[in-house]
Amino acid sequence: MTTTNEIRRSFLEYFGSQGHDVVQSAPLVPYNDPTLMFTNAGMVPFKNVFTGLETRATPRATSSQKCVRAGGKHNDLDNVGYTARHHTFFEMLGNFSFGDYFKEQAITHAWTLLTKEWGLPKDKLLATVYHTDDEAFALWQKIAGLPEHRIIRIPTKDNFWAMGDDGPCGPCSEIFFDHGDHIWGGPPGSPDEDGDRFIEIWNLVFMQFEQTAGEITGELPKPSIDTGMGLERIAAVMQGQHDNYETDTFKALISASVSLTGVKAEGETQASHRVIADHLRSTSFLLADGVLPSNEGRGYVLRRIMRRAMRHAHLLGAKDPLMHRLVPALVTEMGAAYPELGRAQPLIEETLLREEVQFRRTLANGLKLLDEATGDLGEGSSLPGETAFKLYDTFGFPYDLTEDALRSRGISVDKAGFDAAMAQQKAAARAAWKGSGQAADAEVWFDIAERVGATEFTGYTAVTGEAQVVALIRDGKEVDSAGAGDSVSVITNQTPFYGESGGQTGDAGTITGANGLSLQVSDTAKPLGRLHAHNAVVAAGSLKVGDMVRLDIDVARRDATRANHSATHLLHEALRRRLGDHVTQKGSMVSADRLRFDFAHPAALSAEDLAVVEAEVNAEVRANDPVVTRLMSPEDAIEAGAMALFGEKYGDEVRVLSMGRSADGRTYSTELCGGTHVRALGDIGLLRIVSESAVSSGVRRIEALTGEGARNWLVAREEQLKQVAGLLKTTPDDVETRVAALVDERRKLERELAEAKKALALGGGGAKVDSADEDVGGVKFSGQVLDGLDPKELRGLLDAAKQRMGSGVAVVVAVNDGKASIAAAVTDDLTGTVSAVDLVRAGVEALGGKGGGGRPDMAQGGGPDGSKAADAIAAVKQVIAG
Ligand code: ALA
Repeated sequence: MTTTNEIRRSFLEYFGSQGHDVVQSAPLVPYNDPTLMFTNAGMVPFKNVFTGLETRATPRATSSQKCVRAGGKHNDLDNVGYTARHHTFFEMLGNFSFGDYFKEQAITHAWTLLTKEWGLPKDKLLATVYHTDDEAFALWQKIAGLPEHRIIRIPTKDNFWAMGDDGPCGPCSEIFFDHGDHIWGGPPGSPDEDGDRFIEIWNLVFMQFEQTAGEITGELPKPSIDTGMGLERIAAVMQGQHDNYETDTFKALISASVSLTGVKAEGETQASHRVIADHLRSTSFLLADGVLPSNEGRGYVLRRIMRRAMRHAHLLGAKDPLMHRLVPALVTEMGAAYPELGRAQPLIEETLLREEVQFRRTLANGLKLLDEATGDLGEGSSLPGETAFKLYDTFGFPYDLTEDALRSRGISVDKAGFDAAMAQQKAAARAAWKGSGQAADAEVWFDIAERVGATEFTGYTAVTGEAQVVALIRDGKEVDSAGAGDSVSVITNQTPFYGESGGQTGDAGTITGANGLSLQVSDTAKPLGRLHAHNAVVAAGSLKVGDMVRLDIDVARRDATRANHSATHLLHEALRRRLGDHVTQKGSMVSADRLRFDFAHPAALSAEDLAVVEAEVNAEVRANDPVVTRLMSPEDAIEAGAMALFGEKYGDEVRVLSMGRSADGRTYSTELCGGTHVRALGDIGLLRIVSESAVSSGVRRIEALTGEGARNWLVAREEQLKQVAGLLKTTPDDVETRVAALVDERRKLERELAEAKKALALGGGGAKVDSADEDVGGVKFSGQVLDGLDPKELRGLLDAAKQRMGSGVAVVVAVNDGKASIAAAVTDDLTGTVSAVDLVRAGVEALGGKGGGGRPDMAQGGGPDGSKAADAIAAVKQVIAG
């Protein structure tokens, strides 16, 4: 028996020997076609080569391309398991000529490989041609010697192949294999063609045209060849089987699922084993190519496939999650041809297990509801659409899963009723939004979201990508097109641009397209939490809804934002470890230039707290552990220790970010977060806390910088230090000693200056207290005005005067900067007759001031007008004289 792996190898070897480049399979997510959900044919990666946009060094190629047909134009999901040849995942063997050989050589190659290399019996083969293609008809006669009745003209779309509504296309010629008259069915074009006897094994497309929106809009630069042969079908033929699921690869997968479930593959259980084997392939390959289960776009299709398989595992009576345990068998079968499968094996197993655990939780409840609802329904009846909607809404049963679950009982589902219930729910959501008083222009976003669905965000892994414009908004209204100078919000079907949410600012970047179109995106918003609105100005050219565009985010800005976001998680954890578990996030803002983190804590942080927190974060940064992202149910995430933010509404699943490692080897920080993060902590570079302040009572705010921002900040600080050192005529290293010395010196000088002033006031050039004594109304009086005397010295001076006089009154006015302080002292024997307080008050008044106070023996006051000092002395004397 020729194994599937051998057939693949032999096909590629044959075309390789015929001057074709042997090309690795492209990923299942087409990188060059935003309109396509999954790569669904071998020619997809070469689309731009056919249309002339790209060129290849060799004009011939051959590949075995991974394909998924489970969404979009080619969708086989519903039939899988119940037919001999439907798959969600399959491999397409193909040979391609880009303007090199055409029909004749394509037919020659196909015929040679099938009949000479592989030895298929000629009399079992027949061909179809497009009804007008006389040339192909004649070539089949000439090259293969096929009799006329085995070359069938087909007038339908079956013999005109198109990749999708847009792209290259052309008439085709299909090769059929006759499995023999023991199987019912007629040749193509006959009334019995749907039977299983005549099976198409190879499609040769004569690529000649290009179509847009389903209409032929032009010719390709050069006629080309695209062929596709389903590996599973040719393997069946070459292994003497009629049924793809009887080939070696499928037998191995089914035998693994038989042995793990202990249930034979026969009768009703056969379909379940087949569904499991097929879906195992599609889900594993999709996961390996970076698609993760979600509720939108590709992720949703993946989830639907997974859930369908998991329901069949449940039908087989599997008590525990099954799918992840089948992955090793798949890697054994296909890992050599597709090494990405082995590389992603841990991710595939983990994701399948998680999904199955989560799905089994709801499956039981959902199936109970389904049983109750269908208890009375007999064969040929229909399940109310509302019930199907409830299953979808409450239990996450995709519509097609419900349909599939009822199929064996001959019960259909009321699709119109399901759609109506869905529409009703949407209307209710819209009304609730309007009622909440949110932005008045929400209406336009609802219209768009309902029409085009959520924007698929590709930016967790990609920074660039192509997309189709699905809506344009100018001045709050939808428009069909926009031209140079217009400010518009651009909505595309998918985007790598992060929409502002969760405290992280949206991405900026560019949108470019045909005819010189270019837009500058200043930021990206996320209206309704579902649409990514690129706020942009059209710099050149024009664009309209339906256009294909290229999206490039500003990578430097995103990288800086990622670093700040991951640093915020580390900071949060470091604060909790230092200050306690009461530290909870109260708000955060993460942009490219800084991060701001608000948290609950009753008091200001000490310098030591800040230093410890900063050091701990930087130690994590330097350890440079990879950042791990997992998708989990909210319950599982919280169980795993993720910090949940109360009051936030989480969807079916959450992203859980784990980073760093504690001394005990456990994960340092685990948080739920939809933002974008660094790949490894070292990408943060450095964290520098630049401020700590109060936001409101009980809430503190830390602002910090990372990476280049932190470096710039430090460089600026150092520059400052250098400037200071320059002023001090020293080096930065000696600044501290120099400043300390200066401070000491200044203190010393101040002291000396005070002493000098006092000395000067007392004896230097000013009036002498002892020589100034005079008699005022029989009382010994000393009055002095001292310029520049520190008022603090007044008391000591007066005490000394009292001592010297024995009995008397002393008054001093100190004048500083034009203002005056006055103090009076009265010896105890005289306080009965003269009060120091009265004296000072009189003096203060003369100085243009008011008040003054103290005790009868000592009082002090001041006034604004120092030039009246002598008047103040005179006023005091007048009071003493009575
Ligand atoms: N692209 C062609 C197909 O998918 C060969 O059938």
